[in-house]
Order: sequence, then structure tokens, then C-alpha cells
Amino acid sequence: MSKITILAIETSADETSAAVLQANKQTKLLELKSNVIHSQIHLHQKPGGIVPEVAARAHLPKILPTITLALKNAKLKLKDLNAIAVTAGPGLITSLRIGVDTAKALAFALNIPIIPINHMEGHLLSALIKNLRFLDHDREKLFPAVGLTVSGGHTQIVFIRDFGKYKILGKTLDDAAGEAFDKIAKLLSLPYPGGPAISKLAFHGNPQALNFPRPMLGKKGYNFSFAGLKTAVLYHLRDHPIYSNDFGARADIAASAEQAIVDVLVAKTVRAAKEYKAKTVLLGGGVSANQKLRETLGKEVQKKLPGSKYFIPDLGLSTDNAGMIALAAYFHMQKHNVSRYNQINANPLWSLKSWQ
Ligand code: KG4
Ligand code: ZN
Repeated sequence: MSKITILAIETSADETSAAVLQANKQTKLLELKSNVIHSQIHLHQKPGGIVPEVAARAHLPKILPTITLALKNAKLKLKDLNAIAVTAGPGLITSLRIGVDTAKALAFALNIPIIPINHMEGHLLSALIKNLRFLDHDREKLFPAVGLTVSGGHTQIVFIRDFGKYKILGKTLDDAAGEAFDKIAKLLSLPYPGGPAISKLAFHGNPQALNFPRPMLGKKGYNFSFAGLKTAVLYHLRDHPIYSNDFGARADIAASAEQAIVDVLVAKTVRAAKEYKAKTVLLGGGVSANQKLRETLGKEVQKKLPGSKYFIPDLGLSTDNAGMIALAAYFHMQKHNVSRYNQINANPLWSLKSWQ
């Protein structure tokens, strides 16, 4: 077999996505041939967050057309596939089931293996999609690495010894970074999802205007806590009611809150990367679309870890997408870490396991 072709499916939350990745042993090229993302954001704006039942129902009519389009964009057919990859968790069970059941049906019908992928492993490796273009990439130059994965449900600093060999160094003790953005946005009456709305408003504000708390910044270890920051914003708005209608004041709140989140994320990631002698720092997850975070972490890596590489995903690969799931699946396939259609299930609480 000179080519390995993987179709990946991602439906863990409110994006229906399918992607095709191809590894060509002759040209040595590892290529993401297509990555189709159908977003349901418009459905969740009115309630101000994802309603699981609504999300699952919306995945249903979109899942097959999304797969068909991913194959069409890749100029490939079902018969060309060697494996089906699917996000099996963590996520909303009702949403995950749509992707997992579709993947199982396809794997059964095509009689090919299925590769269940942890959503957070996808985010963790997403920055490598554009940076690992060739099959014979030098793992010695890449690892050990440290990854910061920041999404709506998770905030993790992960030590990466190799593909599949992970150790979670720290995680959030309460709200995830994306959740903090979303909740602070709600306090400012900004639309869902809050992250992009906060950054847009923050652009017009002064990040030094308000000294919001930097939770856990001075604490040892790599855990995070963002609930206190949200409460600080809540109290600030309560104590300054006039602010709610003042564009400049609202922009200052957004910019100061964004700065507080970025400061904590960057300081802890750089400290972990130093302690674990990371040759590469990887950023991933929905919050990695944040321009201030992308730039600040890049500058600090350059300053404090000279010689280390810094990889960030393209914007379309920051938020949920099947391309990152396909890449993670490729490395599992290399290790023959595959299953049969009847051996996998959706697991909404699946956490990234440390290596043995
Ligand atoms: O990874 P993701 O698409 O879904 C989950 O796995 O949760 O992340 C979604 C999160 C949301 O909380 C959203 O507000 C946040 O990513 N986000 C951002 C930005 N774009 C998306 N946060 C800050 N700045 C952004 N530009
Ligand atoms: Zn995600």
C-alpha cells in the first residue's frame, strides 16, 4: 500500500466536521486533503451556549453531506479509504454519538479499521498539521515538547515525550480558559461564543486599565483556576453600573480580562517548557485563535527558551475540526493502535491518559 488514506469525523460539540488525510509513502508527503467544518454557532447564540439536544439534532442532517463534501474536496471516494478516525470523547454524549455511530457504520460497511481519538489529543497535535509535511519528520528534533491546550471545556499543560506518550502537568481546577471568556462575555452582554467577541472588543481597550486577578500565577505547579477572574469582573460591573453602557469602559474590561487570562496561560506554559526542557512548544484548542495569546506566547518562548520551536495551528485548525483528529489517528495507525467497528464507544468523560 503506497498511500494511507484516513477519513476523520468530529462531532464532539457544535461543529460537524469531516476531513481526509493522506500519507504517501512514495512522495513522503503527509497531506490534509480536505477539512470541512459545518458550524452550528447560529443555533446556540440565542440561548447563549450549547443546548446538547439541539446540537445533536443539528449534527444529524449535516453529518453525511459533510463527509461527502470532505471526500469530494479531497478528490477521493469511499473505496479509497484505509481507516475511519472519530472523536470518541470527551464531549457531549449526544453529539459524540452521531459521529461515533456514523464512523462505526462506515467502518463496518467498508470493512476497514476504526481509530477512536481523544478530542484533546487532536487539539494538542493540531499545530503540527502545517509543520509536519513529510513522513520522515525528525522526532528527535520535535520532542520532548510541551503543549498548552485551551478550549471551551479544557485547559491543560501537557508534557509530550512522543506521539501517544503524554503526561498532563496541569489543568484547570474550575472553569476552562474558553469558559472564562464565554462567561465574561455574557456579563458584558456579548454574543456566544464569547472568546472572539471579547478579543474584538478588547482591541479597543487598555489591557492595563484594570488590575484583575491572575489566579494561581504565583502558585507552584501548573494548575489553573479562572472562576475568580469571572467573579472579579462581575463585582466590577456591579460596583460601576454606569460602565455597562460605556463602550470605552467595556473595552477596558474586555482588554484587562483578556490580558489576565493570557498572562497566566503564558507564564505557566513557559515555566513548564523550561522545566521539561521542551524543544517545541505547541498551542492548540479554540482559545488558541486568540491573537494576543498567540503573539504573547510566541514572544516569551523566543525570549525565555531560545532555540525552542513554537508551533501554532492556523485559525481554521484552532477551533473544533476533523483535520486534527485525522492527524492524531495517523500516528496511532503507525503504532497499529486501531480497533474494529464493534470495539469502540463514545466516552464523554474520556481524559487523556499518561503513558505507562
Ligand atoms: O476547541 P473549541 O472550538 O471547542 C471545545 O472543544 O470546547 O473551543 C471553543 C472555545 C470557546 O470557549 C470560545 O469562546 C473560545 O474557544 N474561542 C476563543 C477565541 N475563539 C474561540 N477564545 C478567545 N479568543 C478567541 N479568538
Ligand atoms: Zn475542542
